[in-house]
Amino acid sequence: MSDPINASFRPRIFSGIQPSGGLTLGNYLGALKRFAALQGGEAETIYCIVDLHAITVWQDPDALRNRIREAAAAFMAAGVDPARSVLFNQSQVSAHAEMAWLFNTVARVGWMYRMTQFKDKAGKNTENVSLGLLAYPALMAADILTYQATAVPVGEDQKQHLELTRDIAAKFNHDYKVNHFPIPEPLIEGVATRVMSLRDGSRKMSKSDPSDASRINLTDDADTIAQKIRKARTDADPLPGQMDGLKDRPEARNLVNIYAALADQTPDQVLARFEGQGFASFKPALAEIAVQVLSPITRRMSEYMADPAQIDRILADGAERADAIARPILERTKDIMGLLKTRT
Ligand code: AMP
Ligand code: TRP
Repeated sequence: MSDPINASFRPRIFSGIQPSGGLTLGNYLGALKRFAALQGGEAETIYCIVDLHAITVWQDPDALRNRIREAAAAFMAAGVDPARSVLFNQSQVSAHAEMAWLFNTVARVGWMYRMTQFKDKAGKNTENVSLGLLAYPALMAADILTYQATAVPVGEDQKQHLELTRDIAAKFNHDYKVNHFPIPEPLIEGVATRVMSLRDGSRKMSKSDPSDASRINLTDDADTIAQKIRKARTDADPLPGQMDGLKDRPEARNLVNIYAALADQTPDQVLARFEGQGFASFKPALAEIAVQVLSPITRRMSEYMADPAQIDRILADGAERADAIARPILERTKDIMGLLKTRT
């Protein structure tokens, strides 16, 4: 972080995932796997199940409770270690919601209407969606800045929200003439920053896609994974020797990228091995590596899910540690804005 504004801040990584549905291979490759890999470096790692974001669209309460625990199980099964990272669910640390309100007064309404995720989710229904759906990015900025986080690992789709977070931090620092918030850096790296749908190479693989065949869920068993890959949309041409040759073949490119991310190789290394072969031989190889990587994760997830009380204890412990970092930063923010100190 060479930015002089950030030099005075301690390196801290923050990221979050919504418990709005079962997690997918896209969440694993674009987020969870990288969250785990960032542990033990120079920066402290803080990972959050963002349940307050999930309720910006309707969630059945019983299903939500289960999904919060399932997301916690997925984080841990993917290698996020609650002893080395702070792992918790957002609604247990009230500083997020309080900071979000402060940021609602900093952010401008026009910034919110410009967000592509808002436009996609609201569609033609902009007057009828929840106010929370519109204000969502201010809460996301609060998540990040309440910890004065300096870096945020996310998939490509979150880039615009991260820019808005940077805008809020910069406007706050400017308006109040302080150097209180770092300008967080997005970490969007690797070949799997945008895993696409298995049915349509122009759409992101998403937990909210109505077609289950479009995605691989972290709870899918080996047969289901193999079947979804077998049925994945592709074309009839053989694979070229290099990625340039896949420019106009989005579905093929997606499958090669997925293979590369699962195997920790570059896409060109994958193509060097499969050059000249068609999908009849590539798909079974992809299914094999997908099952090899995902089965242990699925198994560990169900082991964690067998003991929900233990998950709740882990999240409560994480929330306590998160609160200890967040509370003084929130208090300082209020003080800068001219609000009186919270009684102690
Ligand atoms: P969400 O599921 O929207 O809460 O996203 C949680 C994290 O997973 C974010 O960092 C997303 O950018 C990332 N993510 C979600 N879907 C994908 C995907 N298809 N490819 C890569 N990253 C993804
Ligand atoms: N908006 C993110 C998503 O939908 C989730 C999220 C909420 C997040 N708060 C965050 C990601 C803070 C990174 C940092 O994927």
